[in-house]
Amino acid sequence: MKVAVIGAGYVGSVTGAAFAASGHHVTVIDSDKRKVDRINSGRSPIYEPGLDALIDAMVRRRLLSASDRYDSIRDADVAFIAVGTPSRPDGTADLAYVRSAADAIGDAINRDRFTVIVDKSTVPVGTAALVASRIEERSGLKHGEMFAVASNPEFLREGYALEDVFYPDRIVIGTGNAKARRMLRKLYAPLLGRRTYGALADVVPQPSRPLAEPVYFETDEKSAEMIKYVSNAFLAVKISYINEVAKLCEALGTDVNDVAAGVGLDSRIGAKFLQVSSGWSGSCFPKDTAELLSASRKYGNELTIVQAAVDSNRSMHDYCVEKVRRRLKTLIGKRIGVLGLTFKPNTDDARQTQASAIISGLLDLGASVSAHDPQGMAMFQTLNPDLEVRYCSSGEETAEGADGVLLLTHWDEYARLDWVAMRRRMRTPYVLDTRNFLRKAPWKKRGIEYEGIGIGAVR
Ligand code: UDX
Repeated sequence: MKVAVIGAGYVGSVTGAAFAASGHHVTVIDSDKRKVDRINSGRSPIYEPGLDALIDAMVRRRLLSASDRYDSIRDADVAFIAVGTPSRPDGTADLAYVRSAADAIGDAINRDRFTVIVDKSTVPVGTAALVASRIEERSGLKHGEMFAVASNPEFLREGYALEDVFYPDRIVIGTGNAKARRMLRKLYAPLLGRRTYGALADVVPQPSRPLAEPVYFETDEKSAEMIKYVSNAFLAVKISYINEVAKLCEALGTDVNDVAAGVGLDSRIGAKFLQVSSGWSGSCFPKDTAELLSASRKYGNELTIVQAAVDSNRSMHDYCVEKVRRRLKTLIGKRIGVLGLTFKPNTDDARQTQASAIISGLLDLGASVSAHDPQGMAMFQTLNPDLEVRYCSSGEETAEGADGVLLLTHWDEYARLDWVAMRRRMRTPYVLDTRNFLRKAPWKKRGIEYEGIGIGAVR
């Protein structure tokens, strides 16, 4: 099939490459010429493990190309809208990019053959109808006759996007149009059926978990849109719950890792998303919880549980700052090394990261901050120009003159830090590990005081 994907961001570039690997002919459309050039020269426009190699292989096979023009919409059987939907100050999603993509599709759409338009971006309930009416207006075509709009939310996680896109748990398709349903089943058939990728084994990752049969779930447009928000908010609530439990574990002297492991053994609950942290963050959870809350308030039925998770999450950031302050008595004149600026490992994404809130909390209390991240320093610096941070070229360097090292993101490379050398550089040998990631290390032997979250301190 011929596929167009509008938007070469985290979702669009991964989705486009995966459909190309399924044997479809894909054109990614983006107004940013640099992203277009990167894809056409076989490189990923974003940092995502494995994506460079996959894009390169697909471009070489002539299954994937990119353009800053909308011409390819004319030939497309299916056109995906995968543009950004950032939050406005009031929490509602800004649909400006979705609207302009819909208008461009309306101008370029083929009047003589049926096209399915798919909302892949996370968009508020009712957006499929909005996209349909804009396309009708621009093209003069009637929705349901020569085109249909479907909602197909994306559930991939940054950092594991290839695994998620090639081995999905579920595909959710929202459309009442029978022809669109048929075409989308055909489009997804290779991704659902091909659980091994023989000829592409060098560019498609092996699954890291035993695979269950993926579920292909069809519903109406609005329900599909709602599923995405409710899923993300549910995960955010789950993390906030365990983070609050972690604080109680500290007070009671119990171990939150064991508590989470024991609780997660109940198949009704599940072990995932019970990993303690300094709070959830990133480009999805904060934005999606804000949109869901604003919709719920608009209809007079506020999702108070989600609001509680948002408040609890903010207090989790503060709790980490307070833990450091409590240990050091005061932060005035103290230097804190921060490991990890991205909202989680294996991404360069520093949008809405917990590191902004925590670093600004440390600075407000008088500390100075040295920070390192393997991929996210450039984006963090661009997005937080007002935060006075000394950026370090290695994790070890954050220890220079430090009164504490605070681990925020559990990058693999931080498991290999040379703590003996770091100890020598530190003024106060203290580590707060907000992911309990390094808890097994021989801290006592190294002469470093180690604290995690929800577990006792090692002195
Ligand atoms: C999320 C959803 O998981 C994905 O399905 C959706 O498509 C987009 O939003 P993503 O934002 O990439 O994906 O990251 P995710 O792995 O879900 O983590 C979100 C935040 O929660 C991160 O800050 C992460 O560190 C934190 N987290 C996650 C925890 O603190 N504890 C956990 O147990 C899991």
